[in-house]
Amino acid sequence: MLGKRLLVVSNRLPVAVIDNGRKRLKPSSGGLVTALNPILELEGGLWIGWPGLGKSDEVMPLADEHNREHSYSIHPVPLTADQVDKFYLGFANQTIWPLFHDFLGITSFEREHWEMYDEVNRIYAEHVAEHIQPDDFVWVHDYQLMRVGYHLRKLGVKHPVAYFHHIPFPSPDLYRRLPWARELFEGLVSYDSVGFQTLHDRRNFVALARDRLTSARFRIRRRQTIFDHQGHMVQVGNYPISIDFDEFSDGARSKEVRRELKTISEAYRVEHLVLGLDRLDYTKGIPQRFLALERLLEKYPELRGRVSLIQVVVPSRTKVRAYADLKEHLDSLTGRINGRFGTHGYMPIHYFFKHLTRPQLLALYRACEVALITPLRDGMNLVAKEYAASSVDHRNVLVLSEFTGSADQLGKGALLVNPYDLEGTADTLRRALLMEDEERRRRLRDLRAQVRTNDVHRWVSWFVSALSDARRNREDRQGRPEAAGDGGLRDSVPLEPSAHVPETYASKR
Ligand code: UDP
Ligand code: G6P
Repeated sequence: MLGKRLLVVSNRLPVAVIDNGRKRLKPSSGGLVTALNPILELEGGLWIGWPGLGKSDEVMPLADEHNREHSYSIHPVPLTADQVDKFYLGFANQTIWPLFHDFLGITSFEREHWEMYDEVNRIYAEHVAEHIQPDDFVWVHDYQLMRVGYHLRKLGVKHPVAYFHHIPFPSPDLYRRLPWARELFEGLVSYDSVGFQTLHDRRNFVALARDRLTSARFRIRRRQTIFDHQGHMVQVGNYPISIDFDEFSDGARSKEVRRELKTISEAYRVEHLVLGLDRLDYTKGIPQRFLALERLLEKYPELRGRVSLIQVVVPSRTKVRAYADLKEHLDSLTGRINGRFGTHGYMPIHYFFKHLTRPQLLALYRACEVALITPLRDGMNLVAKEYAASSVDHRNVLVLSEFTGSADQLGKGALLVNPYDLEGTADTLRRALLMEDEERRRRLRDLRAQVRTNDVHRWVSWFVSALSDARRNREDRQGRPEAAGDGGLRDSVPLEPSAHVPETYASKR
């Protein structure tokens, strides 16, 4: 137990409204929800976010029904069609998402979108201010909500507030292209604690802060950089997000998963199954993966008829042009490669555009002896961690892009590739397929140990520790009104944040 109520704020709730004649809730997709859901189930608390569809009077009864059945509550923030268009599809997903993933060429810069982004962030802050309780731990998530902290301060909320950035943070040089760079930065430094996935992201942000806050003093700790801004301390850390290892490792052995596994092994008669699994996203390097497979079959004819890629693409953001274009591109690439190398009874690519149930997902992880995960850029990539945790047969091999946050932790057990290097990826895939059992077991042991140790509970404990510190700093400062500048810096800022995990959280796990 955290000992305090957890108030999570993210753009998307863990459930979304769907309308098949009758409105009901279904689980949302994506890494943010996968990571946070088990924490909220364990800790309870309140989760504020967008339910994806529907007006307040339609969504509230569904939320009430959810709240009766779960250990935590959801509070929906309904958005109008115009808000969704300009804030979510517009600024969040056509400006920040591409820019922060290094896709400057397809980034759009629309003033109207920016204004709506700020406006919707203010609306989220109002919902938080309305529901906040005195001792709450407030944790805001991801790039859609970078300005919520700023608006909370404007509304007079004095609680320490943490923010976690799930996607990459760009270099100051790239960040500067944003016409609203100052306002977004101001949003980030309104939080007490700002968490990033990797040291690289943290360094990019700190470099930006040094450029912009020329009179602030910066202190560097192993996991945190701390500086003073307008009378409060900002702690900036790198805390890699993860999964609940046991949920995947135990889940992969369940009866439902064994049943799914049987279906898969009956459906595919090929010697080697390779897995690709991603949300529909141009950052995930799916076309490059298909081309690398094509190169493998061109270069090593002895593998033709023996290797198939099962590629699952989970529908996402299809109203954004770049996503719709990608979908079309994947359809045609699949057709071309299958047309070229397919025979009676053999297809190089089995392509699915759909959501999976958890047992289907776990069965695929177990059934495919190689996972080929090739993002061009990814904040973390939880699929890589889930694959390692679910590989309970100890023979699976992970091939992973070096441009994912996960490569920082999984780089030793995985075979790393540069997804732009098709030749290199094809050769590495071949190496994975031909790898001896002993090397497979050794690598997988390493991967599983990494994910088991650095699991999602460790990630939460970093947050709890940072926020507990922020709370003490705020209390100190409020007791000492003259404490401005660096004078108010506590020396108790942890070198190892996990050392500050409240007993209660550690003991409940
Ligand atoms: N996932 C999902 N629905 C599916 C298949 C997968 O929600 O039908 C999950 C998957 O288990 C993983 C997440 O989507 O937890 C993808 O997270 P990742 O960090 O790899 O990428 P993101 O989608 O967040 O960019
Ligand atoms: C990534 C982002 C999340 C987002 C998820 C799904 O994981 O970091 O913030 O929720 O993708 O995308 P969506 O646009 O459907 O919320």
